[in-house]
Amino acid sequence: MSTAKRRRWHVPASVTAKTTFNPIRSIVDRMKITPNPTKKMIALSIGDPSVFGNLEPCQEMLDAVVKCLKQSKHNGYAPSTGYVKAREAIAAEHSHPLSPITYKDVVLACGCSGALELALDVLLNPGDNVLLPKPGFSIYQTLSISRGHEVRHYNLLPERSWEIDLDHLESLIDDRTRAILVNNPSNPCGSVYSKEHLEAILEVAERYMLPIIADEVYEYASLLFHLHHFCHRFPPVLHQLILLHQQLLTIDLAIWAAKMSTLSCFNVFLVQLIPCLSREKKWLELLVCQHDTTRLSSDARDYLLSPLGKYEGNAATSNSSYHGDDNEDDDDLNDDDDGDDDGYDDDDDCSVFEAASRISPVQEDTSDDHYGPYWDNSPTCTPYLVMCQTNCQKFSILLLFSKKILPVSVKKVFPGYKFYPLAQLSDNVPILTCGAISKRFLVPGWRLGWVLIYDKNEAFESEVRTGLIALSQQILGPNTLIQGALPEILTNTPQSFFDNTMRAVQKNAEILYEALLRIPELEPIMPCGAMYMMVGIDISKLDGIVDDLDFTEKLISEQSVFCLPGKCFQYPNYFRIVLTVPEELTQLACKRINEFCKTHRRVIIEKPLPE
Ligand SMILES: Cc1ncc(COP(=O)(O)O)c(C=O)c1O
Repeated sequence: MSTAKRRRWHVPASVTAKTTFNPIRSIVDRMKITPNPTKKMIALSIGDPSVFGNLEPCQEMLDAVVKCLKQSKHNGYAPSTGYVKAREAIAAEHSHPLSPITYKDVVLACGCSGALELALDVLLNPGDNVLLPKPGFSIYQTLSISRGHEVRHYNLLPERSWEIDLDHLESLIDDRTRAILVNNPSNPCGSVYSKEHLEAILEVAERYMLPIIADEVYEYASLLFHLHHFCHRFPPVLHQLILLHQQLLTIDLAIWAAKMSTLSCFNVFLVQLIPCLSREKKWLELLVCQHDTTRLSSDARDYLLSPLGKYEGNAATSNSSYHGDDNEDDDDLNDDDDGDDDGYDDDDDCSVFEAASRISPVQEDTSDDHYGPYWDNSPTCTPYLVMCQTNCQKFSILLLFSKKILPVSVKKVFPGYKFYPLAQLSDNVPILTCGAISKRFLVPGWRLGWVLIYDKNEAFESEVRTGLIALSQQILGPNTLIQGALPEILTNTPQSFFDNTMRAVQKNAEILYEALLRIPELEPIMPCGAMYMMVGIDISKLDGIVDDLDFTEKLISEQSVFCLPGKCFQYPNYFRIVLTVPEELTQLACKRINEFCKTHRRVIIEKPLPE
């Protein structure tokens, strides 16, 4: 360094500071955000569930923090990796028989961002590369670039509910690849990967012996089953679609949803399952509501519309005498008024209900007599559903369940309904899972996150584990007050709190999906979790709009609706909507987005309205 006397003040910033770049901030800061003064601003851009006041932390969480504050025992420095009690509580929640962890495998951090920082810092040197999702949360890039890492983006596929393009991912791997970052459930996509897809990702990681950084900050935030989600999840490779639902009242909605979905050109079968569980009668009726019998493959038709008993191995099924009287909603459908005493009305004059079929249960039901007009959530229903799924698979028929009949136990059976922590599925791949209380508990400002070390092959043992501890000593961990309250927060928060949050998110997702689907210029992709939805924009159909940035800016200036442009997530021609706003605002936003698109519509395109 020159010792020459400086003539004027010049204090340069570090290279780290100069290369730190947050795409969201830099795009948003440069956006023209001038709302229409006649309309109140609706910000669908902020990924902070606490800002609108409609979603609040529960009393149990507040009590835990107040108690901790009053105890005055958590005012000093904690160990840099965090209090043992807090780490134990996190380990207990995230330990799994196949992937057990203890508090020693938990390092606390300042939010999930801090956890990601630790994970990237411990695995990569400058010049190494990390594989990141596109579209993806911008902080990965922000952290990596300022550290001199090379970022390589692998594609997510909107037409496959944002699954990873595994071929593309693989093509990016080279000698300097140090980690694959997987974000599930995803920001900005709201996708939740199926078990099969996660296993396929693990398989790639295992083949190349690459560790995974699993960003699971939206863990548990999976939406309930949703029709649209399945329509997107299964690309049009199937010949038939079966919507399995509980109440006939939902048929119209189901047909409409299927028609509006990507599967609109396929057959739609609506199947009603009527469980009739008793000691004598263990069978299941399927009433098949067929849209277009002629296009159904003949095998499948024979199977589904077979005479009673034809395909059954269980004798108990053939002499059943169920007439559907248990189900008030279904009387018309189940009454056998054609006189042949088979329990079905063969001659349905509206020709909607063509026939019926029965599938015998795969295992004996030893429970007490139980006549359920509807599917209940009991495990007794599960074998029936499993059997039904097996049969449908034989004929490449997609089986859908309406959300009303998704029993908890079935979630385990059908992949795609459930959030699977990546580490629970891995036998070999070392994984650093990053999480936080931010989103799940609706308190992003409390800044408490963690890195979980899942290391079945002791790949992290010699260096990474000690490296994480060393890195944690840089800033001595997160806020001790929240650390102190964490064990109670984790154990005392009632399930209803999470359910309510997800219900609100799901409701908004449904409102937006259904409204935006009707706008010819937009293609919403129904999310399955987290708290976001991505919406595609067909710019060619809009007058005076050049790209997603222009679209979102003009949406603010004309309609005072603020969404983030896809560019913020390295994904142009999309925009992201946050699903945690109050429902009324979501409704209003839908109207305004519709109006905006109408104003800019290049040619009038009539989308068929639901029948
Ligand atoms: C996918 C993802 N990871 C990490 C974070 C950061 O979480 P935290 O606020 O706990 O730092 C966010 C925040 O929005 C996120 O969306």
